[in-house]
Amino acid sequence: MEEKIHTILARAQEALAQSSSSEEIEEIRVRFLGRKGELTQILRGLGELSPEKRGAIGKRANEIKAKIETAIESKIESLRHSKFIRLIDEEWIDVSLNSPATTGGLARGHLHPISHIQYEIEDIFTSMGFTVLDGPEVETDYYNFEALNIPSYHPARDMQDTFWTEDGNLLRTHTSAIQVRGMETHRPPFKVIGPGRVFRYEAIDASHENTFYQVEGMMVDRNISVAHLIYFMKVLLREIFKKEVTIRLRPGYFPFVEPGFELDIHCLICGGKGCSVCKQSGWVELLPCGLVHPNVLRYGKIDPDEWSGFAFGLGLNRLVMMRYGINDIRHFLSGDIRFVSQF
Ligand code: DAH
Repeated sequence: MEEKIHTILARAQEALAQSSSSEEIEEIRVRFLGRKGELTQILRGLGELSPEKRGAIGKRANEIKAKIETAIESKIESLRHSKFIRLIDEEWIDVSLNSPATTGGLARGHLHPISHIQYEIEDIFTSMGFTVLDGPEVETDYYNFEALNIPSYHPARDMQDTFWTEDGNLLRTHTSAIQVRGMETHRPPFKVIGPGRVFRYEAIDASHENTFYQVEGMMVDRNISVAHLIYFMKVLLREIFKKEVTIRLRPGYFPFVEPGFELDIHCLICGGKGCSVCKQSGWVELLPCGLVHPNVLRYGKIDPDEWSGFAFGLGLNRLVMMRYGINDIRHFLSGDIRFVSQF
């Protein structure tokens, strides 16, 4: 037993030195320190020794045990370290290397013009303290209609027919649903916008698509009036078109606003003189908006006697079409690379 104990440490160290994986190290641990391991057996056999030897060998065995444990720990540590070094070596990349895109091997993509204008609008509004919200494209009847003051019997539903799922949900017809969600997560005063994709059951032609994009906006505070609405809309349009635009408000009906408006801009193509884009009227209908209907605030658990607000729904496809002179809305989702690569 005594010879054995002298060689154990050296043998364990030797085995560790030659090991190169955590599995091997585990085997070594079991071989020497495990329940049936060499050292454990020695400790178990101590009882058969004379009392003097028992003390000396027991002490020695415990020292060796501690040394093997430390050796195992440091081997694990060094293995981890060298694995890391190897990773650095193997996964090293030269970030200064030219990419295929810059050397002409691969064409570099870019944002779709709709995404581009959406991000621009997000920047304009966040710079004025608005928060950008999101909402699901598959909505419930409650968020898309009911809480926007459009009960199931309301004829306004006919103007926004859409695709329904078998379990009674629908593809949202407008981003106004995000208003309702915004009122649930925000307490007044607040200013939010909600960009997104919307869907309608539509007879498709050059100006109608079943899938298009909007940005919703809503501001709720004390004593909000049409003047606030006009101010924010004018800033928005000035930033988008990079010049002052002349606007006018006409009455427009939407169940979730009262009063409701159609905001028109002086035609930017002809400067208001009359052309084919503005159908000779000098004005282009751009942006429905209004003061939030008290019922809508109530659905959002906001007291209409204390708070008021404005809301708007900006169609992004129309905006992009005006900006670039695009004459057919169907181009946007055509997937035609000749179209999108122009922007
Ligand atoms: N949700 C309406 C639509 O898609 C647009 C709209 C009108 C939004 C008036 C508004 C609003 O927030 O105040 O036809």
